[in-house]
Amino acid sequence: MDMEIDPSLNLEKKVSSEGPLLAELPLSGLAEMFKGFSKLNREERLEMLLEFGLLKKSDVDYLERGGLSDTTLGEKFIENVIGYFQLPLGVATHFRIDGKDHVIPMAVEETSIVAAASKTAKWIRENGTISTEVIGQDIIGQIQLSHVRNFEDFEQKVLAQRLEFIRLSNEEVAFGLVRRGGGVRDLTVRKVARGDGTDMAVIHVYMDPVDAMGANVINQVCEFLKQPIEQLTGDKVTMCILSNLVDSKLTRARVVMEKIDGELARKIEEASLFSKQDPYRAATNNKGVLNGMDPILIATGNDWRAVEAGVHAYASRDGQYRSITEWKREGGKLVGTLTAPIIVGTVGGVTSLHPTAAICLRMLEVSSASELSRVIAAVGLVQNLGALRALTTVGIIEGHMKLHIKNLSLAAGASEKEIPFVQKKLEEILALKKRISLSNAIDVLKEVRSRMQESSC
Ligand code: MEV
Repeated sequence: MDMEIDPSLNLEKKVSSEGPLLAELPLSGLAEMFKGFSKLNREERLEMLLEFGLLKKSDVDYLERGGLSDTTLGEKFIENVIGYFQLPLGVATHFRIDGKDHVIPMAVEETSIVAAASKTAKWIRENGTISTEVIGQDIIGQIQLSHVRNFEDFEQKVLAQRLEFIRLSNEEVAFGLVRRGGGVRDLTVRKVARGDGTDMAVIHVYMDPVDAMGANVINQVCEFLKQPIEQLTGDKVTMCILSNLVDSKLTRARVVMEKIDGELARKIEEASLFSKQDPYRAATNNKGVLNGMDPILIATGNDWRAVEAGVHAYASRDGQYRSITEWKREGGKLVGTLTAPIIVGTVGGVTSLHPTAAICLRMLEVSSASELSRVIAAVGLVQNLGALRALTTVGIIEGHMKLHIKNLSLAAGASEKEIPFVQKKLEEILALKKRISLSNAIDVLKEVRSRMQESSC
């Protein structure tokens, strides 16, 4: 299956933030803060974020109280509410993206994601750069007409009214976006095979949503156009909805490792080729990329299902599922890129209403939805580099399981007093056998308890 990508893509319009090429700028305040941050306890971390102006006193109080308590807000978002599902919220450090330092809020349950992101960002900071850009501005709405009497006639009629449809949509529906510099920009007609030898007609509406994700407005525009299109063509609209395959607004991140061991760079290049050529590996590679992206989407109240759908569809754009990242050696450097549709908002919906999302957005210090999508792309690419570095050297178990040992100790039922002993023994087993499991933890705990009992006798 060859996926058709619309040829009228608006890919040359670039919004980019040109950062300095080398991370050799003087240490900023945030860079100072990054030093030793992971060694602090929670109270000290919050204090530090307060001191650096990333959190306000009221934010700290709110986080210390444990976030939302009563379900009034939840009732506004969804139906049949019975409580909140809470995820741990952490911050990744050491990120310098386009020459600007960022603290990255991440809401995620998986051990080692935040640590790996911070560790890899530090490695890049010391040896290379991260730069990003947004290519195109417009999201896509689709209007389907499952049957048209004559496609050529239909297309010609719709395109003849194109400017009028754009004007009407902007005047009647997208006026708020127009005021902020966005709005409906274009309209195209596509022929899509029905699979039975006949075709359906699909109109694409392109709209610049500025700093909103734009889902509601684009859906309203498409539904608004339904009646004038039916009246003009005499054909019937079947349905209207946005597309999550937004190839007209792509975000790209680029990591250049100026200094890197040649053998490591070669292995990472090989790992990258693996994920480009083999869909089985590509799926896992992209899962690792999303390990970096989803936690920010969740923390900022963005629709991560929409981004996931877009990423996977874009990864299949030539008919085979491939990695959305690529790593290549260039001279003595290793250069990585990530390209994907990352449609997010910084205004409207949950982003503004959920107090935790509002805090996280503020902490990120992004000034636009484009900047947020650039940060998300950068973190996805950094997470990918961290995973490939581990996979091509020590393997995934070492980094992952070391951090998981405490969880295993807890799961085995170790008390606070017992945990250090169990952990130490499990680390020894891990170093020796290169694997560790819950049953190891249970056995070790039994042993620790019997030794403790013996020594107390
Ligand atoms: C685990 O959550 C993610 C990785 O599998 C990603 C990858 O294989 O690239 C480590």
